[in-house]
Amino acid sequence: MKIAMIGAGYVGLVSGVCFSDFGHEVVCVDNNPDKIDRLARGEVPIYEPGLDVLLARNVEAGRLSFTDDLLAAVRGAEAVFIAVGTPTRRGDGHADLSYVMAAAEAIAKAADGYLVVITKSTVPVGANRQVKEVIAGTNPGLEFDVVSNPEFLREGAAIDDFMKPDRVIVGVETERAAAVMAEIYRPLYLRDFPIITTDLESAEMIKYAANAFLATKITFINEIAALCERAGADVKQVAKGMGLDGRIGNKFLHAGPGYGGSCFPKDTRALARIGQEHAMPLSIVEAVIRANEETKRRMIDKLQTLADGTFRDKIVAVLGVTFKPNTDDMRDAPALTIVPALVGGGAHVRVVDPQGRREGQTLLPNVEWAEDPYLAAEGADLLVILTEWNEFRALDLRELASRMAVPRMADLRNIYHPAQARDAGFTAYEGVGRI
Ligand code: NAI
Repeated sequence: MKIAMIGAGYVGLVSGVCFSDFGHEVVCVDNNPDKIDRLARGEVPIYEPGLDVLLARNVEAGRLSFTDDLLAAVRGAEAVFIAVGTPTRRGDGHADLSYVMAAAEAIAKAADGYLVVITKSTVPVGANRQVKEVIAGTNPGLEFDVVSNPEFLREGAAIDDFMKPDRVIVGVETERAAAVMAEIYRPLYLRDFPIITTDLESAEMIKYAANAFLATKITFINEIAALCERAGADVKQVAKGMGLDGRIGNKFLHAGPGYGGSCFPKDTRALARIGQEHAMPLSIVEAVIRANEETKRRMIDKLQTLADGTFRDKIVAVLGVTFKPNTDDMRDAPALTIVPALVGGGAHVRVVDPQGRREGQTLLPNVEWAEDPYLAAEGADLLVILTEWNEFRALDLRELASRMAVPRMADLRNIYHPAQARDAGFTAYEGVGRI
């Protein structure tokens, strides 16, 4: 099957590479020439474990290529995926569909025979019908089908998620398009992964509902964590006790500094907006959005209390700024709220992150970048763990404490035990939801 993938970002690139690994002939298209240049040179523009090897293997096999020439890519394709961004639209919280619709129009102009246009981007209910109208309006007479195929991969584990998905959702209207989708996902059908066929609107809704539910789960445990701190309970024990109930499950019950990333913040905002537009306000989702902002604010208060009430002239070492480990993605990361609060309060901030520096250098002005946690901790008054990278999980705490001017730790991912930190010489340790 010949496939064109429009948008070679976190989702498009991983999907394109994985489809080529299924044996399909894939052309990834992006309108960012720098991205395409780097890909053509064999460089992977994002950090995603395992992606470089898989990409090189499929380029070498002649199944995977990169271009900024959308017309040529679409002309040769039987299936065209739209995997461009759908960020929050300025002003109203709605998903900005301009990139999706621009891609749909470009595909329609380029198409010269039957093709299936598949939206992988996360889009509001009704957007696939809009894609259909744009294509039909731009190229009347073109034979085509639209399919909604939302993506559920997680950055940092994207290849595994794509190759071994919990489920694949295919929102489809015709038998002909369903057959094309079956062919595209054949390796997954053969290995019995659940492939759920729905109508267009249900597929679109599944993606938003799933993300909003996950954001709710995280926010719920974050609020319970805050209550644990006041009431004298330990959220780690509470989460364990809750999670063993099969109806609840133990995933996404880790208290932290608030959810962030490229999906949850914008998707909860968009879903809340969809609810309002349908005169069905989603009170839970709206509360989750507010509670998450509150969680981030509580973290800043926690840090300020630890720093004797003021950040002024304090040296603060921040470990991790990406929104989660194993990615270089900084979109809506809690660090983008917390670090500027430290800097704004007069702290001198030193940051360490295994992959966050490239993006972080632009997004976090007025901070110093350190090579490792020990150098960051030199003379520091406070150490803050913001992202639970594996390399931060087994630090020599004694060494860290000995290098600091005042050995205090805010472990906002609960990766250390309070007693362990105190034994190592930290005079103060604050986790999240623990005493
Ligand atoms: P991204 O920003 O990393 O990638 C989008 C790419 O599309 C960019 O490289 C951009 O240059 C390109 N692009 C935009 N308009 C174009 C056009 N007209 N022609 C060619 N290229 C164009 O975004 P990301 O993270 O890959 O997200 C894409 C979609 O997938 C979003 O709707 C997102 O919500 C969804 N999604 C993202 C996940 C993630 O973990 N990042 C997971 C599941 C879904």
